[in-house]
Formats: sequence, C-alpha cells, structure tokens
Amino acid sequence: MGARATLTGFAALALLQCCIAYKLVCYYTSWSQYREGDGSCFPDAIDPFLCTHIIYSFANISNNEIDTWEWNDVELYGTLNSLKSRNPNLKTFLSVGGWNFGSQRFSSIASSTQKRKTFIKSVPKFLRAHGFDGLDLAWLYPGRKDKRHFTTLIKEMKTEFTQETHPGKEQLLLSAAVSAGKVTIDTGYDIDQIARYLDFISILTYDFHGAWRQATGHHSPLFRGQLDGKADRFSNLDYAVGYMLRLGVPASKLVMGIPTFGKSYTLASSETGVGAPILGPGLAGRFTKEAGTLAYYEVCDFLRGATVHRIASQKVPYATKGNQWVGYDDQESVKSKAQYLKSKQLAGAMVWSLDLDDFQGSFCGQNLPFPLTNAIKDVLTAA
Ligand SMILES: *[C@@H]1O[C@H](CO)[C@@H](O)[C@H](O)[C@H]1NC(C)=O
Repeated sequence: MGARATLTGFAALALLQCCIAYKLVCYYTSWSQYREGDGSCFPDAIDPFLCTHIIYSFANISNNEIDTWEWNDVELYGTLNSLKSRNPNLKTFLSVGGWNFGSQRFSSIASSTQKRKTFIKSVPKFLRAHGFDGLDLAWLYPGRKDKRHFTTLIKEMKTEFTQETHPGKEQLLLSAAVSAGKVTIDTGYDIDQIARYLDFISILTYDFHGAWRQATGHHSPLFRGQLDGKADRFSNLDYAVGYMLRLGVPASKLVMGIPTFGKSYTLASSETGVGAPILGPGLAGRFTKEAGTLAYYEVCDFLRGATVHRIASQKVPYATKGNQWVGYDDQESVKSKAQYLKSKQLAGAMVWSLDLDDFQGSFCGQNLPFPLTNAIKDVLTAA
C-alpha cells in the first residue's frame, strides 16, 4: 500500500516534470557562414538536442511575398531542418525581417490590405516547402503609425495558420521578436493584443547600452545598476520583463532574450569602471569584424590577460585590457538570468545567437560546444 502510494507519487512527479518544459529558443544567422576560419558557422554545427526551437534568420520579402535572403538559403534550410530527423521534437522557425530589412518595407506591406493578403498567403506554402514549423516576425521596429497594422498583420497571419492544413503536420506556429526598450514598446505595439495571437513573444533584452552613451555600461544587465540615473531605470531585463507582464503578456508566452555576445568600448582615460568615459565603440573582433560587438568566443580570447569584474547588483561581468572595456555574459550570468525567468514562470529563454556562442567549443577552454546555451539549458531542465 505504502510502496504503491510512493510509486504513484513518483509517477506523478515524473509526469509533472516532463510537462513543465521551458522553451529554449535559439537564433541562427545565415551570414555567420561567411565569417572566416573558425568563426564560420553552418547549421550542421548545431546539436539537435540543445534547443527546443531554432529560428533561422533572416528571410526577405520580395514582391510582397516571403523569399530567401542568401543565395544558398534553400540548402541551409535543408541542413537545419534535417536536424529534426535526429530530434523529432525540435521546432524550427523562419524569421522574416531584421535590421538590414528595416521597418519601412514592413510598414508598406502591413498598411495595405492587398499587400498584407499577398504576404500572408505566401507564408504557409514557403514554410511547408522548406520544412519549417513556424514563422517569426522580426519587424525592427513598428512605429506609432504601424501599431494598429502590426496587430492586424499578426491576427490575420494567425487566422491563415489556423485554417491551413498540411498532411501529417501540426498547425504552423507564430512568434514575434519585440523591442525591450520602454519607449519603443509604448510607441509600436499593442502588446496585449498581439500576445493573444502569437504562440510566444521573444523580448530582445540586450543592446540596452551602447557607445552613444559616452560612458561604459553593461548592455544586458539583469537588474538596475547602483549608478543608473533616472534615464537608465528601464535599461535592464528585470524592468523590461515586468513591464511586458504588466502590459498583459501572459508569462506563459514570454520568452526572455539572453545574448551570447558582448558590447565593447574604447576607454578615454585611465578610468576602467562602470560609467568610465569612452572615446567610442571597442575594436572589432577578429571574426565578427564589427566595432563595439564581440562574439562570446572572441570575448574568451580577449579574457587572456584581461581583468574581470562582476557588477554584483546587476549580476553580469565586464572585462578590461589596455584601453578596451567589454560587458558580456558568461556561464554564471546566463545561469542567473535563466533562474530569474524560472522564478517569474516565463515561457523560456531566447538566445541571440548560436553562432556567437563558442559553437565549436575551441575558444573558451572547456572543450564544450555552446557553453552559454548549454548553461541555460542546464538551468531550464533542472527540476
Ligand atoms: C529583398 O527583396 C527586395 C525586394 O524585392 C530586393 O530589392 C532585395 O535585393 C532583396 N534582398 C536580397 C538580399 O535578396
């Protein structure tokens, strides 16, 4: 009797644990294939069991229809989607838009009934033809005049997905990547409306701080910093997540972004702390070649001979070497962020991006591919 009750208890526990599954939504960027040498990343580098969702970015829109961006996208879509033969539970999305696509073309499509219809009709065919399970809208960012149209676009896209059927396949899924900036949120989104139709919302909780601030600061702090003035009180994950929840996104649909990149600055003086004056962005990385941004694997290189500090109140590290300062995430900080999102019972974590993590495991000295994404996964899958 007692043994039986215990067994039933175990079974119930096992059942419970199986079904409280957090999402781990991971972006892959097609342009990472062009990075030289060990920086070059193709979808076959991705462990099929690492993430629950992989989002391929980005697709284009041509003649108001969804379209490829890179010359070899179709081949890479195939490589990505073949990961599902090893993990049938993996979901793959195609993300349309992005920074280079811009806002203006989205605006023109979303505001016209006819163009919207053409775009929406083109999506299920395209996703099915290439083996994707869903669409991610990366309109960065809708403005004031777009707010209403963005909601309509999402609502109509969802309706199309609900009506579309494909033999042997589940209904297509719909997500959106939204800004974590309070002003952009207030301007561009009817958050509670779009949340009704989206399967999940990924909040871009990074890039809070940049060279425009003329002083060092972490770009993705978990909490408000002790030195943060009034203007900075919104620039942290805790505020952005709390704000989205207050605006009416169910926690069960909110996915919190965690960066696998750092933001770097060139210091203007011998001051090296938080809030130190800067001359501008930091030196470009050897592989990513963009001033002010370093992939985690480039940060690992930078750390050799650097001084590392942790901003205790914000739960993130920064490192300095010579006149360079970089605020980044490491295994410890991504674990704090994953713990945080569990404490808020959010839907899960989003990672931008797999190709900026140490995807081969050769840079960060642990012989472990994807050390940051794996650290997040460890926390999300722990009981
Ligand atoms: C995306 O589509 C637009 C409109 O057709 C086109 O002008 C542009 O060249 C396309 N971009 C790429 C990278 O193919």
